[in-house]
Amino acid sequence: MNNSLSDRARSILNENDLGDYTVPTKGLYPYQWNWDSAFSAIGLASFNSERGWTEIETLLDAQWECGFVPHIIFRVDDPSYFPGPQVWQGRAHIPSSGISNPPVVASIVRTMIGNEFECADDRLQAIFHSLLRWHRWFKQCRDFEGNGVVVSVHPWEGGRDNSPEWDIPASSVDTSNVGDYQRRDTSHVDAAMRPKQQDYDRYIALLQYGRSTGWDHNLIGEAGPFRVVDVGMTMILIKANRDLLWLAKRLKKTVAIQEISSWIDTSEQGIDYLWDEKVNAFCSRDTMTGESSGIITNASFLSFYAEVGSSVQKQSMLSHLERISKQCSFLVPSLDPEHPEFDAMRYWRGPVWLVLNYMISQGLFNCGYRDWAEKVRQDSGDLVQQSGFYESFSPTTGDGTGGELFSWTAAMWLAWCGHDRETMS
Ligand code: GLC
Repeated sequence: MNNSLSDRARSILNENDLGDYTVPTKGLYPYQWNWDSAFSAIGLASFNSERGWTEIETLLDAQWECGFVPHIIFRVDDPSYFPGPQVWQGRAHIPSSGISNPPVVASIVRTMIGNEFECADDRLQAIFHSLLRWHRWFKQCRDFEGNGVVVSVHPWEGGRDNSPEWDIPASSVDTSNVGDYQRRDTSHVDAAMRPKQQDYDRYIALLQYGRSTGWDHNLIGEAGPFRVVDVGMTMILIKANRDLLWLAKRLKKTVAIQEISSWIDTSEQGIDYLWDEKVNAFCSRDTMTGESSGIITNASFLSFYAEVGSSVQKQSMLSHLERISKQCSFLVPSLDPEHPEFDAMRYWRGPVWLVLNYMISQGLFNCGYRDWAEKVRQDSGDLVQQSGFYESFSPTTGDGTGGELFSWTAAMWLAWCGHDRETMS
């Protein structure tokens, strides 16, 4: 048993556990984050099944009437974080942000059931009901073209905050009225790793716009100043719908089975909207200009996770992965190393995130590319063994980037890339 690493992973999750929810890491992110919490749940469940399920339940507890589940939930006020609850002014019973996050929960729930982390039937029914309402919200408020691909209305919504995919679409966001504010992130982490000031101003301007509508999600999705179909969020939603369908069948929800199946069919037919023929890859596309970003990121490889694309498209994505693997020591960098903006240390412009690797690897495995799936898993384990439980890692040197003692990295070690290294010293 590799006690030191697995024990450290468990103690990181325990340290970041504030009772019935975890924070991503103390200091930098002192609240409950949506997709972080979902990934943390499988790590927690690996040593405390009950605690894994409560993590899912507290997250869904923050759901708004309309089905929306926010990206940050502010259960206690912490002045060390900006922008906090007074700035966001989410309109629900628990203070929250007004944007959502990649909906990974249904897939995590399926994995937890598959791993035989027991959950009583009435609890599972309640979880299913919340997830169905959340996925319906995506259909209603984020899929305006009705083609099964979803817009992100803020770079933070898709969870890959600072990806260069957003640079051009966000460049037309008016930041002239942003006013004075004090960033807190750069007092926790080296500014060279964090988004630049110009990007941050755009994040705040988009937040202020959403708040000014009273978080009217239909309006924001239909007419807001930033509406990009995020390849990551779309692929994650397709996979989540497949897993929700699995759950609906298990719970014998006949009407929901039809509804979810139709969402999946629509997405499978509509996914070519994201295929960029110039670069032969799935890329994010700006709905306001119709332009593809033409940028290959780790999220592009989530097409395997969603199990979409023709065999020619899959082969092309695999060739990109092979090419990229020759250009860095650890897969999968958050940006194509050939892109001029590639920066091994800066947020979402180079570093490797283990949660993305987990989904990519699972997708490669399910699509039959087992060697590649294993390579991604091995690289992930190597990163932790080399550098510890950082938020992300340089794909070049393997050094840790961003915050330390990170919940979802610890969870990935326990539930995925570290479990068979436990016999190693
Ligand atoms: C950063 C990441 C985002 C994550 C959050 C908390 O904002 O970009 O994906 O959810 O940190 O870890």
